Amino acid sequence: MIKIGIITGSTRDSRVNIQVAEWVKSIADKRTDVEFELVDIKDYNLPRYNESVPAIMTQDYQTPEAHPWSKKISELDGFVFVTPEYNKAVTSGLKDAIDYLYVEWNNKAAGIVSYGSTLGVTAANNLRLILTVPAVATVRTQPAFSLFTDFENMSTFKPAPFHEETVQNMLNEVVAWSTALKTIRN
Ligand SMILES: Cc1cc2nc3c(=O)[nH]c(=O)nc-3n(C[C@H](O)[C@H](O)[C@H](O)COP(=O)(O)O)c2cc1C
Repeated sequence: MIKIGIITGSTRDSRVNIQVAEWVKSIADKRTDVEFELVDIKDYNLPRYNESVPAIMTQDYQTPEAHPWSKKISELDGFVFVTPEYNKAVTSGLKDAIDYLYVEWNNKAAGIVSYGSTLGVTAANNLRLILTVPAVATVRTQPAFSLFTDFENMSTFKPAPFHEETVQNMLNEVVAWSTALKTIRN
C-alpha cells in the first residue's frame, strides 16, 4: 500500500500549523486505499543544518537526529507539505529538514497545502522550487488558506467547506503520481 506522509512546516510553540495538518489528515483518512501518517518535523528535533558533506554526496550523516528523520522519509512514497509563509518563503525549520536529506526524497510526489495572510502561495511556490533538486514532483492542485477567513481570530482553524474538495483533488494527484513513481525507484 502507498504510504503518504503529511509533513508539518512550522516548529514554533504557538504554531497553527498542526491544526491544518491534522485537518488534512482527517480528510485523507477517509480513503482506505492509501496509508497516511502525520510526520511532525518538530518531533525530530533537528538542529540547524550543520553537516560538512551535503546529503547529495553521502548518507553518512554526522548529526544524530538526522538518522531517524532519514528513516522516516525513506519509508514514505509521497508527501503532503503543510506550509505557512514566513517573509514570502517556507520556514527555516522546514528548509533545514529538507536539506538534511537527498536520496530519501528522490523520485517521490508531493502536494503542497499553504496558509498565511496572503494564502501562503509565495511560500508554496518557493517550496516547489526547493523540491526540484531533491527530485520531488509537485502536483498541480494546491489548497491555500487565508489567516483572515479560514481561521477564527487568526488562531483557530475553521476552513471554508469548499476546501475539502480541493484537498481531495490534491490527494488524488499525489496518490496517482506516488504510485507511478514507485515503479522507477530501486
Ligand atoms: C516571521 C514571520 C514572517 C511572516 N511572513 C508572512 C508572509 O510573508 N506572508 C504571510 O502571508 N504571512 C506571514 N506571516 C504570518 C504567518 O503566516 C502566520 O503567523 C501563521 O500563523 C504562521 O504559521 P504558524 O503559526 O503555523 O507558524 C509571518 C509570520 C512570521 C512569524
